[in-house]
Amino acid sequence: MINVLNNTSLKPYNTFGIEATTKHFVTFSSVEELSAALDQVGADRWLVLGGGSNLLLTGDFDGWTLKNELKGVELVNEDEDYVYVRAAAGQSWNGFVQYAIDRDWAGIENLSLIPGNVGAAPMQNIGAYGVEIKDVFYELEAYDQVERRVCVFTLNDCAFGYRESVFKGKFKGRFVILNVTFRLCKKPVFHTEYGAITQELEKMGIEQLSIRSISEAVIRIRQSKLPDPAQIGNAGSFFKNPTISDEQFERLQAEFMDIVGHHVLGTDTTKLAAGWLIEQCGWKGFRRGDAGVHAQQALVLVNYGQARGEEIYALSGEIIQSVEEKFGVTLEREVNII
Ligand code: FAD
Ligand code: EPU
Repeated sequence: MINVLNNTSLKPYNTFGIEATTKHFVTFSSVEELSAALDQVGADRWLVLGGGSNLLLTGDFDGWTLKNELKGVELVNEDEDYVYVRAAAGQSWNGFVQYAIDRDWAGIENLSLIPGNVGAAPMQNIGAYGVEIKDVFYELEAYDQVERRVCVFTLNDCAFGYRESVFKGKFKGRFVILNVTFRLCKKPVFHTEYGAITQELEKMGIEQLSIRSISEAVIRIRQSKLPDPAQIGNAGSFFKNPTISDEQFERLQAEFMDIVGHHVLGTDTTKLAAGWLIEQCGWKGFRRGDAGVHAQQALVLVNYGQARGEEIYALSGEIIQSVEEKFGVTLEREVNII
């Protein structure tokens, strides 16, 4: 039996803190409940909701919101070097990271404190501080809403890219991710080369490197830069960092000496820091009503309280236009627009 709520506010369920309602709201904590909910959805629109930390509601949702409450973590296999751990989609991502660290299972410590749930992590191949989940991904199970059965996706099937996967691309809106199995290392390989991790570890006075100390360093850096959704509504980076040809980058560098970009190894492309582009267009700290651009990180759009999703969306459009005009580079939204 599933319990359907009607005309329910989604404000507590999105980290942007946008006030919007959903026509129907159902939680599911088993495949049977999910299947029963999908029976009722019929031809209506539907949306699976995890922690709501990567979406922008641009109005009331005239469909079914299915809140994923699948729980559980299980060690499914191990060999000399690896453990294979299956986590249910409704587990908190950072909770799972800390669970792995407590057991000395390495590989996801650099992804500490990313909000949201395990089930959404493969959607955009979450990444931070030099690691993406594709690096530790083994397989996942997902429920196919079209064929009404559970399917297994291997690493290749997911076609992970930078903030991309088949679930955000060609299979958008078709599969509900049920659980993800990760292959974590018994012998850690430390990734400290990215960003300010090394400086932070020094500041912390760490002499013996461990996955816990890396996790702590990452948490400290994130807390210093990114707004806490409990204080200021946001969904992390609103745009992707754009990739352009090395040639275009050199042309831009001739005009804008300080432009921030990194060559992508094995390609003839450069990934630009979108935060720098947006800051140069004068948006950092901008505020109109309750919609704004974070004062410490221009890539993060914020809701100071009562902003509507349409206002944030309109602001993102103005940012895209000004970056295009100044640099000839088109920013792409990273957040899922509902
Ligand atoms: P939701 O917002 O609930 O959903 C996101 C999308 O996935 C929606 O389209 C939803 O329909 C779909 N979805 C959710 N669950 C499922 C499922 N089980 N099956 C199928 N589809 C599903 N991201 C990064 O990659 N790196 C970062 O460093 C990072 N930092 C952040 C910092 C802050 C302060 C915030 C607020 C966000 C940040 N994010 C970051 C973005 C976000 O945390 C991730 O994208 C996260 O994986 C979203 O999880 P969620 O459960 O909240 O997803
Ligand atoms: N920068 C500016 N001004 C700004 C912000 C950034 O000039 O206002 C420049 C700085 O030079 C800085 C560089 O941009 O050195 C990179 O900034 P930062 O290290 O903060 O990372 P980012 O590129 O802005 C990306 C991810 C984050 C992830 C961090 C750390 C994307 C879209 N964003 O941000 O992911 O946590 O790197 O790996 O790739 C998210 O996806 O929601 C997210 C927060």
